[in-house]
Amino acid sequence: MKRIENIGVFTSGGDSPGMNAAIRAVVRTGIWEGFDMFGIYRGYEGMIDGHIEPLYSHSVSNIIQRGGTILKTARSKRFMTPQGRALAYEQLMKYNINALVAIGGNGTFTGAAEFTKEFDIPVIGLPGTIDNDLYGTDYTIGFDTAINTVTEAADKIRDTATAHDRLFFIQVMGRDSGYIALWSGVATGAEFILVPETKTYIDNLSRLVKHDIRKNKTSGIVIVAEGDDAGDAESIAAQVKDRLPELETRVTILGHIQRGGSPTARDRMLASMLGYASVKALKEGQQGVMVGLINKQIAYTPFEEAIKNRKGIILDLLEMSRVLAL
Ligand code: F6P
Repeated sequence: MKRIENIGVFTSGGDSPGMNAAIRAVVRTGIWEGFDMFGIYRGYEGMIDGHIEPLYSHSVSNIIQRGGTILKTARSKRFMTPQGRALAYEQLMKYNINALVAIGGNGTFTGAAEFTKEFDIPVIGLPGTIDNDLYGTDYTIGFDTAINTVTEAADKIRDTATAHDRLFFIQVMGRDSGYIALWSGVATGAEFILVPETKTYIDNLSRLVKHDIRKNKTSGIVIVAEGDDAGDAESIAAQVKDRLPELETRVTILGHIQRGGSPTARDRMLASMLGYASVKALKEGQQGVMVGLINKQIAYTPFEEAIKNRKGIILDLLEMSRVLAL
């Protein structure tokens, strides 16, 4: 095991609320443990370009409550190539950075897994994504804030849906995961939740909507995960309207509002715990693992497993949501 000199920290991929809290925890724990800490800006892009600066305790003051990421973020195509990674390594060596903490999602860990093998630099990953799609942790940093944002927005839409007797289709993020849709759908009492993990049959959905109308439901909410197999919210709404022309429908695409905002206390707590644990893991000689929280315990999952395995949603919750929205 090589002695760690300086530790670099960066955020990569889509930002998520709580990334700043994680950076703060990593930097302050690193300083406490006696390391010099460096911030790498714009993820792997900044690593390749040498956009690297020292971070001190005061550099991370007053950021625990802020959304976004003070280190900025990017998705890097160059880092996917061996040449890009070699350039990144050269830049790190200029600052004697020989250990890294990478905060991001699947793409971030795919790059980190390659890098740690090629250059024997220990990398610890922290799960930072609103999607909650990473295997090896019960929750990812940012998920709780995102579902609270969706819940607040859907509650407001519920008011106008009720006032006008309309059926709203609300599209939420999550890439190919239905976590955000399922949790925010249950929390808002959505009549229907459409997720990529189950096939959506428009005929079936239309039949159930009609059944609700017969039971005197005059308005409703359908939460549509962006990765649903039947299409996006616009297209699903149009297909339902084709079958039930008497319905008044509206579509809201929540979009990137779900990625911003001040992190919830839960996300700040998770980010702080995992950030702290990541530096401890480096000190213990761990490398190539993502630090997560499973059943309230810190858990280390090799990048390969975190990438390869899918974290499925609990399908029973879908059935539960339908019963509770009757
Ligand atoms: O992974 C986070 C996420 O917000 C997904 O939910 C969404 O599909 C994607 O990123 C959007 O990415 P972009 O930053 O390119 O808009």
